[in-house]
Amino acid sequence: MKIFIAGASGLVGGNCMHYFKSKGCDVIGTYFSYPAKDTVFYDTLNHENPANFDIKSFAPDVIIHCGALTHVDYCEQNEAESYQKTVESTQNLVNLSLQLNAKLVFISTDYIFDGKTGPYLENETPNPLSLYGVHKLEAETIVKTQVAKHLILRITNVYGDEERGKNFVSRIIDQAKNGQKLTLKLPVDQFATPINAFDIARALYLLLNEEKKGIYNIASTDYMNRVQLAQTILKYFPNAEYDLIPMRTHEMNQPAARPLQGGLKMEKFLNEYPDFAFSNVDDYVSKYLTK
Ligand SMILES: NC(=O)c1ccc[n+]([C@@H]2O[C@H](COP(=O)([O-])OP(=O)(O)OC[C@H]3O[C@@H](n4cnc5c(N)ncnc54)[C@H](OP(=O)(O)O)[C@@H]3O)[C@@H](O)[C@H]2O)c1
Repeated sequence: MKIFIAGASGLVGGNCMHYFKSKGCDVIGTYFSYPAKDTVFYDTLNHENPANFDIKSFAPDVIIHCGALTHVDYCEQNEAESYQKTVESTQNLVNLSLQLNAKLVFISTDYIFDGKTGPYLENETPNPLSLYGVHKLEAETIVKTQVAKHLILRITNVYGDEERGKNFVSRIIDQAKNGQKLTLKLPVDQFATPINAFDIARALYLLLNEEKKGIYNIASTDYMNRVQLAQTILKYFPNAEYDLIPMRTHEMNQPAARPLQGGLKMEKFLNEYPDFAFSNVDDYVSKYLTK
């Protein structure tokens, strides 16, 4: 299988690139501003950029779109850029996948829901609270209505190995390990289903191999708020110095509204792959400490 991953210098795309290569796929992964190891340049907003990798000659069977703006509060304050990087980039990759007759994989989020009744199944009614969520939902609709051969993976609270170590879990581990004092003001009322990016890659590999289509939630067995997530990590660092200050979301003055009772249910995926073993945050941190 020939796979093109836009945004392989990031957390999800990077894990997919490494995992698919380890399975023998022919994979090209791209970066935009951070040239991570083994990636090539590609700008999803400008297919005519002469610096772009020549995707047409590569002629992938699958295009995976991980190249997006993921900072929810930044999106709220920069609407045009958020629209461009989430909606327009998706339309561009839709056009490319139609031209090349490639399957398109779009990565979405539980932020398309309002967080009143989560965790959510795939067929529940979206009602995004933030611009990030509105734009992700619009991008999903573009993919669903224009590309017959599509997969939409919904994920949330992703952590895992990445070159820049910028995700929430990795940052806490790094600081605790390096003896830096942590001050963590975290919402106690935002619940979600954290997922290891490595498990997303493993799940997507199975779905692609079996030519699956449609929407799949990829979530783990954990359902926790941010305070619980931090505590789960910190218990592995008994000498870590930290102030953990639980806050209510309304006290935090975050520019973008959050789904409070968010997260995703993975019954659909598990019904189709009952042997699939999802890892959880405890697995990730304990394994990290034995490396
Ligand atoms: N992380 C989460 O918790 C989470 C939750 C739900 C959904 N998602 C979705 O999952 C997808 C991947 O997220 P992630 O966490 O892996 O994000 P990430 O680590 O921030 O990676 C984003 C990627 O997009 C690339 N990119 C940005 N602008 C681009 C452009 N114009 N052209 C091409 N590539 C561009 C970045 O390249 P450079 O870094 O090289 O500039 C990077 O490789 C996103 O669609 C995100 O919305 C993530």
